[in-house]
Amino acid sequence: MKKIMYINGDGIGPELMAHAKEIVDTLVDVQWVEGEAGYETFQKYGTSLPEETISRAKECDAILFCAVTTPPNIPNYKSAIVTLRKELDLYANLRPFVSLPNVPSNYPPLRFTIVRENTEGMYSGIEEADANRATATRVITRKGSERIVRFAFEYAKKAGFEKVTLVHKANVLRKTDGLFLEIGRAVAGEYSSKIAVEDALVDSVAMRLVKSPQDFQVIVTTNLFGDILSDEASALIGGLGVAPSANIGEKYSLFEPVHGSAPKYAGKNVANPTGMLRATSMMLAHIGFEAEATHLENAIVQSYKNNVKTKDVGGSASTSEMAEEIKKNLKNTIC
Ligand code: NAI
Ligand code: MG
Repeated sequence: MKKIMYINGDGIGPELMAHAKEIVDTLVDVQWVEGEAGYETFQKYGTSLPEETISRAKECDAILFCAVTTPPNIPNYKSAIVTLRKELDLYANLRPFVSLPNVPSNYPPLRFTIVRENTEGMYSGIEEADANRATATRVITRKGSERIVRFAFEYAKKAGFEKVTLVHKANVLRKTDGLFLEIGRAVAGEYSSKIAVEDALVDSVAMRLVKSPQDFQVIVTTNLFGDILSDEASALIGGLGVAPSANIGEKYSLFEPVHGSAPKYAGKNVANPTGMLRATSMMLAHIGFEAEATHLENAIVQSYKNNVKTKDVGGSASTSEMAEEIKKNLKNTIC
C-alpha cells in the first residue's frame, strides 16, 4: 500500500487537507502519515520543520502539503516549505496552468506549464547585510541548470507539448543566466527533432503572458523568475485558488497548491479547494493511480460546469459545498 505523508500547515491548510484526504480515501487505499510543519509547529516546538517530519517524509511514497505561514517579524525564521524543498532535493517545481469552464477570463482556453528550478538561484539563502548594504548571492550551477532543463524537455515529451521556452535575463546577468542559457541550449539540442526551443528575456515573457499566453507551452526558468511568473500565470486561469504544483526530485516528491495559507480566510469555509485538489490529482498520477487522477480532475471540471464554485472565481459555494459537489461528481459515471 502506498504511504503518503500529509502536512496540514497553517491558515486554510487544515480545512483544505481534510477534503483532499477524504477524496483520496474514496478513490484508493493509502496509508496516511502525519507530518508537522509551519508556524503552528514552530510555536509548539521552536522549529518550523522538526527533524522527525523530514525523516518520516523520506519513508513515504509522496507528500501532500497544503500551505504554511511564514511570519515576517521573526528574525532567522526558516520557511518550512523552502527548507523541505532543499532537504529533499525537490529540484523541479512543476506548475500546470489549465483553464476551467465558467471562470471569467479574457483569454482563449489555456494549457501551459511553468517548470521552475527550486533549489538554487536567488533563493539559495546566502544573504549578508550591514547597516548600509545588503547582498544576496544568486547561485546557478551547471548541474542544477542541466537537470531542470532536461526535466522540462522530458515533461514536454510526456505531456505532448511541442515547444519549450527558456526564460532568463542573460543580457544583464551575464554570468549566472549566461550559464543557464548555454546549458539550456545544449540540452535543447538533444530534443531538437521533436521539440522546438525558444529563449526569451524574463521581462518580455511577463508582458507576453498577459498579452498572448496561448503562445506558451512549457516555460523553464530559474527560481525567482519562476516564482513570479507562476503567480502571474495563475491570474490568467482564475487566480491563486485554482493552481496546483508538484515539487519533484530524484527520490522524493511533494504536491501542493500554488497559494499560501491565506490567513484571512482561515476557518471561514470560503477558500477555493481547486488548487489543493488538483495537486492531489497530480500526486495520484505520480504514484501510479493515473486513472483515479484523471477521474478527480474530471470531477473538478464538472463542478465548474455545474457552476458550483467559490467566490474567488465568481461563484457562491462554500469550500465544503464545492468539495461535496466534487465528491458527488466522483460517484457519477459521467466522469
Ligand atoms: P496567499 O496565497 O496565502 O494569499 C494571497 C491571496 O490570494 C489571498 O488573500 C486570497 O485573496 C487569495 N487566495 C489564496 N488562496 C486562496 C484560495 N484557496 N481560495 C481563494 N482565494 C485564495 O499569499 P500571501 O497572502 O502572500 O501569504 C500568506 C501566507 O502564506 C504568508 O505567511 C506566506 O509566507 C505564506 N505562503 C506560503 C506558501 C507555501 O506554503 N507554499 C506560498 C505562498 C505564501
Ligand atoms: Mg510564490
